[in-house]
Amino acid sequence: MTIFAGCMSISALVGSAGQSPALRRAVASTVVSHYLTVGRVDDFPPGSMRTVRAGDRQIALARVGDEFYATQGACLHLKGPLGEGTLEGSVLTCPWHGWQYDVRTGKNEFDLALQLETYEVVVDDGHVKVAV
Ligand code: FES
Repeated sequence: MTIFAGCMSISALVGSAGQSPALRRAVASTVVSHYLTVGRVDDFPPGSMRTVRAGDRQIALARVGDEFYATQGACLHLKGPLGEGTLEGSVLTCPWHGWQYDVRTGKNEFDLALQLETYEVVVDDGHVKVAV
């Protein structure tokens, strides 16, 4: 199992439940039910941005090195498709008018009061899962 910084593996979360098998099963059940698979790790090369669906939500998924980050899919300006934007380091640029956000925090690069909704991401057995 691989753990990426900025997110936590399911086994790490379950492991934090301690030695009680019943508690560990309960935590695993609770944790897994909140995460939806959006693809395999190999589907997202480092430095890539993509639009994925997690349930009924459109998500912009970024891979920065070996770390994954997920934000809402629509730009705060005029709802441009952020998953079709470009990624330089951790800075996402909207394809429509160039607003920029840090995918690690969702914060707008020019106005820190503006912030995208962000989602937890885990990698489990080669699958990328987003908590929605
Ligand atoms: S819609 Fe994203 S910058 Fe305008």
